[in-house]
Amino acid sequence: MAAPSPLSSATVQALARPATGRRVAVREFLSALGSPDTYNLRRNVYIPFGFLFGLPIPFFSVGIDLLASGRTFGWIAVAGTFERHPIHWFFVLHPLLFAVVFGAMGAVRLQKNKQIDRLIDALETKLRSLSEANAQLKDLDRMRSDFLANVSHELRTPLVSISGYTEMISQGRLGETTPDQREALAVVARNVERLIHLIEELLELGRMEANRTQFIQSSFDVIEAVQAAVESLQPQFREKEIRFELGGTAGPLWVFGDRDKMVRVFVNLLSNAIKFTPGGHAVGVLLQREAQGVNVTVWDEGPGLSENDLRHLFERFWQSSDLKSRGTGGFGLGLAIVREILERHNSRIYAGNRESGGAQFRFRLESAPDDAPRLDRPRPAGIDGRAAAVSGKAPEGRRA
Ligand SMILES: Nc1ncnc2c1ncn2[C@@H]1O[C@H](COP(=O)(O)OP(=O)(O)OP(=O)(O)O)[C@@H](O)[C@H]1O
Ligand SMILES: [Mg+2]
Repeated sequence: MAAPSPLSSATVQALARPATGRRVAVREFLSALGSPDTYNLRRNVYIPFGFLFGLPIPFFSVGIDLLASGRTFGWIAVAGTFERHPIHWFFVLHPLLFAVVFGAMGAVRLQKNKQIDRLIDALETKLRSLSEANAQLKDLDRMRSDFLANVSHELRTPLVSISGYTEMISQGRLGETTPDQREALAVVARNVERLIHLIEELLELGRMEANRTQFIQSSFDVIEAVQAAVESLQPQFREKEIRFELGGTAGPLWVFGDRDKMVRVFVNLLSNAIKFTPGGHAVGVLLQREAQGVNVTVWDEGPGLSENDLRHLFERFWQSSDLKSRGTGGFGLGLAIVREILERHNSRIYAGNRESGGAQFRFRLESAPDDAPRLDRPRPAGIDGRAAAVSGKAPEGRRA
């Protein structure tokens, strides 16, 4: 897929590493003395520069000699100093010597520039092949999402029909059934429900990832959203006899976002909390008002999250191997959906463990702007003392 680089990675690394040290510099300089670049007047600007630099030296040497001999400047006197001290011929050659020395320095620089150009070429080729590979991956990802969405859609319709007929048969509307048959039908119905739930989650996640989900933004009371989620989870709370505790700032707490999607976030987080918390214990939500927003913490009294959980938690279909072996149900999509929804609310979710044990998930919701349309819903009355202990202050030791 990716085109090979014209340079081996060892060469690229060697070029990228600057050659340092006095010895290296001397070696490079000496080898440049033999390079044609050193004497190429057109390419190497250092040569005339060196020549001009060396030019004053013969004048100095003759001038000093004239000063020392007390003679005044004149061509005859100058010619005399050359006769007396043939060493002045050596100084006459100095501009050429300087031109060669500067030329060699320029050649080293030219050499380095060539290396840098080669390196840049190699990097550009790599970059091009990487962006091509990236585009191919994006195409593949789009194809995968489309495939998943199509298959999910095609599977949903027959499953809904199976579910409907199963219900009709078990209700005896298509003839008498024996208790054994009804028991078997209940198993079928449960599994069909599970599959429909999976397909709906897959469809929703696909829609969100493809930006096809509409988010209806308004100002809503986050306490009401939490309570709506708790209400929809009443059967699970009751089944495991788990208490729900709502703590933090007394409401209403107006935040900005899609209220129904936020209910979904709380349902997904709280259903996990219930799933992992042993019966008779508590799970809860802490809502703390702060400048321009509300900090949300969903906590539980379960076993908490391992290092591995923390690394993969929000990936699609990821479940800790413990959970898979225990077969606690679910498909590992709940937290991926939570993350997507919160990202669309410009919020990030952080998972961690509480000091007293158990997991906690934290995120922040923005306060609503003054002119945002307000969604004023009555809080559900059904959250009774057993399922939800609604308190005005934060429970001890459960702060984020
Ligand atoms: N509160 C928690 N305590 C301990 N582990 C958790 C908790 N929440 C999530 N996890 C771990 O993260 C995994 C992924 O959670 P996620 O909600 O995405 O999937 P799921 O609950 O297994 O299935 P789904 O939500 O699709 O029904 C879980 O399977 C579990 O291993
Ligand atoms: Mg879940």
